[in-house]
Amino acid sequence: MSNNFNIAVFASGSGTNFEAIAAACRSGELSANISLLITNKECGANLRAHRLGVPDCVIQYAGREGYDEFDQKALDLLEANNIDLIVLAGFLRRVGPKVLNLYEGKIINIHPALLPKFGGPGMYGLRVHQAVIESGDVLTGSTIHFVTAEYDKGSIVAQTQVKVLPGDTPEILAQRVQGVENSFYVSALKKLIPSLKNK
Ligand code: GAR
Repeated sequence: MSNNFNIAVFASGSGTNFEAIAAACRSGELSANISLLITNKECGANLRAHRLGVPDCVIQYAGREGYDEFDQKALDLLEANNIDLIVLAGFLRRVGPKVLNLYEGKIINIHPALLPKFGGPGMYGLRVHQAVIESGDVLTGSTIHFVTAEYDKGSIVAQTQVKVLPGDTPEILAQRVQGVENSFYVSALKKLIPSLKNK
């Protein structure tokens, strides 16, 4: 289906959320094009992009200088592809200031906990679930939020809850949360995209 709303996904990991979003664009469930995948290293998400025929680009970088270069290269690609929305899906790097500036209000992220708890720098992957278990909380979940310069602090778009069960390890809890995230991300995008199209 042809659309005039273009999505770029940024990822660093296995890419299940990227694939779910790409599939929903392709099936017409989301009225958007999956235009581009950007990663900061070769990862599972790139393999999925190749299989699905989604254009992808690895922008590798190290250190502060590399970070500025990543920011500029990403911005060039976003502009060349007329991207309307950036979807972070397991992207474990900060979005650079140039991209943040030009795409203010048009970048969203998924975080595997109920923000504002268990977020911030260094809170990703199993560390998040470890912290949830150590806190004694009986509910965790997943949060979709706008991305701002302050890590995990942008306004919340949607949250879904997942139980923490006795005996959970970080690995088991991560699996339970990831089990709901793919469809949760797609349904949140379904509600969000029409409002962004009107901006
Ligand atoms: C997801 O669980 C997402 O919530 C988490 O990375 C995973 C990516 O899975 N994101 C963060 O931890 C961001 N701080 P995927 O590569 O299979 O989409």
